[in-house]
Amino acid sequence: MMTLLAPKPLLILCTLSFYFSYVMAFSAGDTQILLRVKTQLDDPDGNLNDWVSGSNQSPCNWSGITCEQKNFSIVSIDMSRFGVYGGFPAELCRIRTLQNLTLNFNSINGTLSTKLLSLCSHLQALELEENDIVGELPEFPPEFTGLRVLNLKMNNFTGDIPASFGRFPQLRVLKLAGNLLTGPFPKFLTNLSELTRLDIAYNPTMKPSLLPPEIGNLTNLQELVIFNINLTGNIPDSIGNLVSLRNLDLSQNSLSGTIPESIGRLRSAQQIELYLNRLYGELPDSIANLTSLQNLDLSQNGFTGKFSERIAGIRFISLRLADNLLEGSVPDIVANSPDLVQLHLFNNSFSGSLPENLGRNSALQDLDVSTNKFTGELPQHLCYGKNLSSLVIFWNQFSGNLPDTLSECQSLNYVRIEQNELSGQVSDKFWGLPLLIHLRMHNNRLSGPVSSSISFANGLEALTISGNVFSGQLPPQICKLSALVELDVSDNQFSGEVPSCMTELKNLQKLRMQQNLFTGEIPRHLSSWTQLTELNLSKNRFSGPIPPELGDLPVLNYLDLSDNSLTGEIPVDLTKLKLGQFNLSDNKLYGEIPTGLDYELFAPGLLGNPGLCSSNLKQVHPCQRTKSPTLLLAVILSICVALLVGSVLWYLKIRAQVFGGKAKRLYSVTSFQRVGFNEDDVFPSLTNENLIATGGSGHVYRVKLKSGQVLAVKKLWGGSSRKPESELVFRSEVETLGRIRHGNIVKLVFCCSGEDCRILAYEYMVNGSLGDALHGEKLGPLVDWAARFNVALGSAHGLAYLHHDCVPAIVHRDVKSNNILLDEEWTPRVADFGLAKTLERDVASGHGAMSQIAGSYGYIAPEYAYTLKVTEKSDVYSFGVVLLELITGKRPNDLSFGENKDIVKWVTEAALSSTSSCDGDGENAEGCGIDLSQIVDPRMNPTTMDFEEIENVLNVALLCTSAFPINRPSMRRVVELLKDQKPASQK
Ligand SMILES: *[C@@H]1O[C@H](CO)[C@@H](O)[C@H](O)[C@H]1NC(C)=O
Ligand SMILES: *[C@@H]1O[C@H](CO)[C@@H](O)[C@H](O)[C@H]1NC(C)=O
Repeated sequence: MMTLLAPKPLLILCTLSFYFSYVMAFSAGDTQILLRVKTQLDDPDGNLNDWVSGSNQSPCNWSGITCEQKNFSIVSIDMSRFGVYGGFPAELCRIRTLQNLTLNFNSINGTLSTKLLSLCSHLQALELEENDIVGELPEFPPEFTGLRVLNLKMNNFTGDIPASFGRFPQLRVLKLAGNLLTGPFPKFLTNLSELTRLDIAYNPTMKPSLLPPEIGNLTNLQELVIFNINLTGNIPDSIGNLVSLRNLDLSQNSLSGTIPESIGRLRSAQQIELYLNRLYGELPDSIANLTSLQNLDLSQNGFTGKFSERIAGIRFISLRLADNLLEGSVPDIVANSPDLVQLHLFNNSFSGSLPENLGRNSALQDLDVSTNKFTGELPQHLCYGKNLSSLVIFWNQFSGNLPDTLSECQSLNYVRIEQNELSGQVSDKFWGLPLLIHLRMHNNRLSGPVSSSISFANGLEALTISGNVFSGQLPPQICKLSALVELDVSDNQFSGEVPSCMTELKNLQKLRMQQNLFTGEIPRHLSSWTQLTELNLSKNRFSGPIPPELGDLPVLNYLDLSDNSLTGEIPVDLTKLKLGQFNLSDNKLYGEIPTGLDYELFAPGLLGNPGLCSSNLKQVHPCQRTKSPTLLLAVILSICVALLVGSVLWYLKIRAQVFGGKAKRLYSVTSFQRVGFNEDDVFPSLTNENLIATGGSGHVYRVKLKSGQVLAVKKLWGGSSRKPESELVFRSEVETLGRIRHGNIVKLVFCCSGEDCRILAYEYMVNGSLGDALHGEKLGPLVDWAARFNVALGSAHGLAYLHHDCVPAIVHRDVKSNNILLDEEWTPRVADFGLAKTLERDVASGHGAMSQIAGSYGYIAPEYAYTLKVTEKSDVYSFGVVLLELITGKRPNDLSFGENKDIVKWVTEAALSSTSSCDGDGENAEGCGIDLSQIVDPRMNPTTMDFEEIENVLNVALLCTSAFPINRPSMRRVVELLKDQKPASQK
């Protein structure tokens, strides 16, 4: 400005301002339109702050506006990532010169109606990617003759693709991916002869349909991305006509048949993705003609035959053939590609040795050839490019030493070489590779000590080296691996004392050291082992007493100290543990067995200790108690009782035989841990006075056994009409569930199934369900926020375990506060997953269809309405609802929310309205943010409330309840997100 006032530029200024006033007059209407739209949009990030009228302010300088150079008319508006909220601003189309309108990555909501759109027929490009638009796709009026780009990706559009989408004469780019479309793939799209990019992918809700042969008419296509839209049938031969195609993605459909030979005509193809279909047959040789090909993924199909020399000669960057039925050797020539980064061949039947030069000619990063029949030595140069991070070769027959070059391979972080025939010493440097996270080498013939250099691998989370011939002492440096979750050194020849500092490994969950030659005492000071669930020190030479501190480990459920030389009495503290596996047998323990362990149930775990005595178990010496006559009397009495019971049982048995009672069992019984009871102990207690609940799948009884153990026994409806196949399904699910051991999951201890017995017995949870506690009279410790937070975190752990650590992953399908139970410490335990639903399906199948909705009202993820499929992400949604319940104390369908509103809508609206109300004074961080007082449970003790933490949990809950599954975090991420806040609140 100052310089412009100097005499010479003054002239220019005058000319300019004359010109400007001419333009301003010309576009004054457009300026008004922009200002009006500004008032209609919510702009929390202030990206429209420079949209203000004022002298000499041309809108051409405003954010997002582009004008024509010559006459300053507005031709393009790009508000991508402005963070604006509100309905589609069709008003902008009143700017007659506007060609392109781009509103990607905002929160545009509401619907897109034909009426709104009719203003916009002069547009060349309309882009609304990743917004929140709902409803059906609009019909476009015929006036839309100039449209070249239509991008409606990642919204919540539903319904069919309208017929008018086949009538854009100039359309080059059409993107509808990531919506909730329900119609088929329409043939009329093949009329769009100018199309270069078609992306409809990830509409898993679409109706199964064929890929029409006319797709071959779209000869200008460069990108055809139509994965996960329920395509069926064959890949049409005409696909070969798409000679301009660079990227073909048909993955995650149900395509069947063979790959047509014509695929070899796609000379421009750089990427072909066909994974997860039902394709079969041999790989067509014509693939070898695809000289531009870089990435090929044919995984998860049923391809057979060999991997031909010609195809292997392609200059691949990434080649994935995993999960097929391929066989024969892998041609050496595959190692010649100078670009090869990723090679996935796992789960096939490949044999022979790996190409000797693999890794020699490229920066190989990710090699997975696991579960094949490979033999021979590992190639020497896998890490020649200093880039190898993932080396996965397990379940083969590789032999020989680990190549020395791997010891220099600093980039390695995921190493799974278990279940081979590898031998020789593991070098110091290999043990200390600094980025290692997983190192699994078990079941080989590797030898030598664990090097002290292992301390350099301080990010290790899993170290399994069992079943080798490693020897020497474990170095104390192993205690530096503070991230370690699983350590298995079992079945080796380790000796000497265990470094006592190992008790500092605070993330350890499984410690297996059995079958070695360890000596010395079991370490004490175990208070850091708060996560330890499994401890196996059996078959060693440990001596000294059992540390009573073991009884304080909060989640230990597997304890095996058998076959050592342990002495002393059994600490009473051990009775505090809830054990699935308990074994102290074959030691030198003596003294009286603590009453909590003096049951038949534990007897096998106590045998082989000649010095132990028991007042209860016949297998063990009785304790000498001659001093007390009353006790003697008691012993005599109990012997009498035992005799009496014995004879009664004997009588009953005889009677049963005589009267043809229970000649054979009509059902089978499975127990998943040492249980001291059988079905006959349970049956008589299934009476009305023990009934505690009645659910969708049956009655639940509280059963107290003679041992004192209390069970929740679920007796399922129906039964006599079960088909043998469904019985098998049921049984295999039961096996899976029975194996689950996690501190936040209710244990299935016993199950019985068959014609006249359909029973599941779980551990009984004293404090009932979270739902009852929150919505009933008895809040208990849940008056405090901290207790609620623990429930949130604990149940997240349980669900994450089901989703990520179980094989196969278990989708709960009915996450709700009534299925989160609380034990005596008010620790949450996830209950009632999977199983009951299988049974309901079973019962329902009598009527031909599944009568039962998966999930409970108020917790059901919105996509269920369209997909009728329940995925992990549906559990995440339901879990988000539980989080909201914990914060608000309200039921998911509380009547106070009003017509058609649930807790998610109610909280979302409350959260939005309070954030927008603090627009102006952003500096005052205290006052801004969500006004929690409106939504938090008024019954919570205000002095314990940590608003920062509550707000964070609220944010996690809102993420979990995102309308679109893809936006929801995984349960593992949820755990992290919840945990992340802990330090903040404890500062
Ligand atoms: C509008 O979009 C079309 C198609 O993407 C593009 O070719 C053109 O350059 C854009 N025009 C402006 C002014 O940005
Ligand atoms: C769209 O969002 C705005 C502001 O966020 C809100 O006020 C309005 O109710 C929403 N409209 C619809 C139809 O959801």
